[in-house]
Amino acid sequence: MARIIGSVTTSHVPAIGAAIAAGRQEEPYWKPFFDGFKPVHDWLEAAQPDVAVVVHNDHGLNFFLDKMPTFAVGAAPEYRHGDEGWGIPTVAPFRGDPALSWHMIESIVGEDFDLTTCQEMKVDHSVTNPMALLWPGGGDWPVRIVPVCVNTVQFPFPSASRCYKLGEAIGRAVASYDEDLRVVVIGTGGLSHQLEGERAGFINKDFDLKFMDSLTSDPTWATQYSDEELVELTGSQGIELLMWLVARGALPEAARKVCSNYHIPISNTAAGMMVVEPSA
Ligand code: DHB
Ligand code: FE
Repeated sequence: MARIIGSVTTSHVPAIGAAIAAGRQEEPYWKPFFDGFKPVHDWLEAAQPDVAVVVHNDHGLNFFLDKMPTFAVGAAPEYRHGDEGWGIPTVAPFRGDPALSWHMIESIVGEDFDLTTCQEMKVDHSVTNPMALLWPGGGDWPVRIVPVCVNTVQFPFPSASRCYKLGEAIGRAVASYDEDLRVVVIGTGGLSHQLEGERAGFINKDFDLKFMDSLTSDPTWATQYSDEELVELTGSQGIELLMWLVARGALPEAARKVCSNYHIPISNTAAGMMVVEPSA
């Protein structure tokens, strides 16, 4: 049977892609951020996942305001990175796993989630940068991916509690897949940031650290907040932390922290990263 070996949650700031392309990892601005991923590389090397379920929020490359699914799941044989501006070089295409995608879709829709199924899907910096942070060096990716996309661009967004439950449904979907696969769940976005308006540059370190701690001490802690409250607490793009809740929900309740990093700022963002794995 397929098995979830853990979750990796991380910020996905576009500037990361530009820094990787320019080889800036050792520069003082970037080093504390990139160094945080060294223990993740060791963990991945030992864990050897076959597939990554990548929970992310598209920013207009794939879905735009005219058609905005709340939850969308990729079922494509391949996912390509389009030119999204920002000066980010595009990366090698990602191999999909349509059989696993369709199994997950059937299982999750079977639990009354209304998903948009995508036999074609482009992926933006919210997929490419986390993948490049986890598997640096370029070339072919060592895992196939199943992208799961959550709307955090146009209100109304799904609630934190709905996102956590989607994660639980993902966990059951993977666990009921009849192939011996090792699956890592990646959640990308956050932590606190706001790119526009009067509060541009807003960061809430206290909340971010409490949130990261809650993922092992009290995983549903953040589901007490409405999306409007989360925007107030973390900024209009800080709401991307919903991806962290989906990823955490996919793991058993008893889970432990493997490693984490928190660094302010990367571009306009409080950059958080955390690896969690099942306790048993
Ligand atoms: C930034 C952060 C994001 O999450 C994003 O999607 C775009 C930009 C930033 O901090 O620059
Ligand atoms: Fe973003």
